[in-house]
Amino acid sequence: MEGLRVHNEPPQGYYHQPSNLLVDHGKGVHFWDSDGNRYIDCASGTFNLHLGYSHPEITRAIREQAERVLHVTSSFQSGPVNDLVENLVRVSPENLTRVHLKSSGGSEAVEGAVKIAQQATGRDEVISFYRSHHGQTLNMIEASGNAFRRKPFRGGQPHGYYKAPDPYSLRRVFPGKSDEELGQYALALLEEHIEYATSDRIAAILIEPITGNGGNVVQPRGFLRGLRKLCDERGIVLVYDEIQTGLGRTGHMFGADHAGVYPDMITVAKGLGGGLPIAAILCEERLLGLGPNDHSFTFGANVLAASVANVILEVISRPEFLPRVRRVGDYVEQRLRALAERHSRNVAEVRGAGLMWGLELTADSPQDAVDLTNTLAHDGLGHGLFLRTSRYGYGNVLKVRPPLVMTLGEATEMCDRLDELFEETV
Ligand SMILES: Cc1ncc(COP(=O)(O)O)c(C=O)c1O
Repeated sequence: MEGLRVHNEPPQGYYHQPSNLLVDHGKGVHFWDSDGNRYIDCASGTFNLHLGYSHPEITRAIREQAERVLHVTSSFQSGPVNDLVENLVRVSPENLTRVHLKSSGGSEAVEGAVKIAQQATGRDEVISFYRSHHGQTLNMIEASGNAFRRKPFRGGQPHGYYKAPDPYSLRRVFPGKSDEELGQYALALLEEHIEYATSDRIAAILIEPITGNGGNVVQPRGFLRGLRKLCDERGIVLVYDEIQTGLGRTGHMFGADHAGVYPDMITVAKGLGGGLPIAAILCEERLLGLGPNDHSFTFGANVLAASVANVILEVISRPEFLPRVRRVGDYVEQRLRALAERHSRNVAEVRGAGLMWGLELTADSPQDAVDLTNTLAHDGLGHGLFLRTSRYGYGNVLKVRPPLVMTLGEATEMCDRLDELFEETV
C-alpha cells in the first residue's frame, strides 16, 4: 500500500516501544492509521473485538451506561451485572449454571478456575498441555505449555503445574498418524504422566479446544472425549479455557459446542468485553465453595463492561448470527485451502473452525519458516491486512481471525488480499 507511514515515532517514555503505526479509528472489520490507510483486521484487535470496531449498539450502551454509573462495588447488585449473570447462564452449556464474575482478564479467570477446582477437590495439582497459553501471571505462565514464557523468571515459581504432550506434539514422534490416533497416544501418555510424574492429587485439567496462541491446533474430538472420561473416573475438574474459542469464534457459542464434549468449567474473557476488561468463570453448581474474597479483583464485574457484554451476548445470540459466522467461515476455509494448494511448498496445513484459522508455514528450515511467517505478517500491512503470527511452536503459523461481523464481501476482499500477499512474498 502506497504511503505506509513509518515516521510516527512513539514517545520515548514507553517501557516497550510499539511499532510506528498509529491507529486513528476503526469501524466494523477495519481500522485506519493516521495517514488514512485502511486495514482489514485479521486479528480482531487482540482477538477480542468479536463485533469489530465502533459497533453502534456497543457505543450506545457505553454512552447510556456511563451516564448512569460506571462502577459499583461487587458486594452490591447492579442491573447490567445481574443481566450478565442471567445472559451467561442462558448461553452456556446446560451443566454450567453459576457465573463467577470477579476477574477482569483472562489470566485472572483461568487462575480463578484453578482455585475453584482446588477448593472443590481438596487437591492442589494442575495439568495443562504443551503449546497451551493460559495467561501471564506467575501461576499462568507456569500453567502455559511453553518454556519461553518461564525462561526469564527464575525462582519463586508456583509448584504443582504439570504439562503433558498434546496430540499435536506427538506428530514428530509418530509421523503419518491421524489426529485421532495421536489423541489416543496423548491420552495413554497422560495416564502414565499422572501415575509417575505427579503426586496423583490433580484438581484440574486445563485445555483450549483450539489453541489460541499455540498455533491454532484443533483438539481431536476423541482426545476431548477421553479427557472427559479420565476426569470423571478420577474426580478431576475439566476446565476449557475458551478465552479465544468462546462467544461465537468457532461458529458456535463455545468451543465446547463445536466439539460436542462438555467440561465442568469454562473461562471467558477477551470477546466478552468487546474492548473493555471483563472476564467470567462459568461452572457447575457442585463447584460452589470459593469464598467471596478468595478471588476478587477491583475491576471484576465492572458495570460499564457488563453493559457492553450484555449487548455482545444478545447480538451473538440472534438466530442469524452464528449460522452466518459458519457460512463466512466455510468460505474463508475454502479460499485458504485453495491458497495452500497453490503454495503447497510453503503452506503445510490449514486448520481451524468458524472464523478461527491458522496457516502453518514450512520452508527449508524451521527458522526459515518463522522468518517467512513474520515477513508475511509484516508485508501484510502493505496489502491492507493486519495479521498476527503464532508465537508458540516454531512461530510458523499465520492466524486469520477477523471480527465475527465480517460479511461475505469483506471475506472475499480479505482472501483476495491474502492471495496477492502470498503471490508477492512467497
Ligand atoms: C486461551 C487464553 N487464555 C488466557 C489468556 C490470558 O488472557 P489475558 O491476556 O486477558 O490475561 C489468553 C490471552 O491471550 C488466551 O489466549
